[in-house]
Amino acid sequence: MRIDVVSIFPEYLAPLRLSLLGRAQEDGLLTLAVHDLRDFTFDRHRTVDDTPYGGGAGMVMKPEPWALALEHVLERQAGAHGAADNPRRPVLVVPSPAGTVFTQAMAYELAEEPTLAFACGRYEGIDERVLDWAGERFEVRPVSLGDYVLNGGEVAVMAMVEAVGRLLPGVVGNPESLVEESHSAGLLEYPVYTKPSSWRGLDIPEVLLSGNHGKIASWRLEQQLRRTVARRPELLEGAEAAPFGKGERAVLRELGYEVVDGRLRRVAS
Ligand code: ADE
Repeated sequence: MRIDVVSIFPEYLAPLRLSLLGRAQEDGLLTLAVHDLRDFTFDRHRTVDDTPYGGGAGMVMKPEPWALALEHVLERQAGAHGAADNPRRPVLVVPSPAGTVFTQAMAYELAEEPTLAFACGRYEGIDERVLDWAGERFEVRPVSLGDYVLNGGEVAVMAMVEAVGRLLPGVVGNPESLVEESHSAGLLEYPVYTKPSSWRGLDIPEVLLSGNHGKIASWRLEQQLRRTVARRPELLEGAEAAPFGKGERAVLRELGYEVVDGRLRRVAS
């Protein structure tokens, strides 16, 4: 996969060269290019912002540097592996608190693309016409990291690139760890323990020492259910019941869920 990020703070993205994603780049599994928006300005001050039409607080990012930067990205991406065979337009993610919320499902979807571009806005945002203009060249996706406001898109891009990058084939050494983690099946992850089995008076759950893999698997699933109900009940509301067997359904009933038309529903209390 090839990823292009446009930002006025390219150094902000430097940590993406470290750790697992750094290795993925060395191994040629991921190409990451970070572009400085100011390189697409021509005035002495390398200006990227101006006052908003209609008044109001703050500054708005000017359209022309964005068009030039995104044209440059398109040129660079045209030669990327798989880009020529892509029947769809390349995806342009625009991080924004006004976007749709980023999820693990979206990370899986984005990981299928041959190229991704990210446009990091700052200040009060990017002139809206840039998104209209880009919409003819890219599939534009405004995406939010969550319901809070950051100073700009860079931190959101770091999170999204890490979440997507680790799903690329070969990036995570043991692909099984991707299957068992939180959100991969719509549930939170079960608790994990390591040696020693007794630590500061706290013992690990007995079942984990039993050697009975079936029992361990059902204990873990039960923990996932209990944790999800306690911490993120909205993940279960309306979820498909099909993956849950008799044992899990009994736990779910105890936790206040019933199955209606094949889907979980919280029983009013
Ligand atoms: N830019 C500012 N806040 C953001 C958020 N919550 N998600 C994505 N990009 C942002």
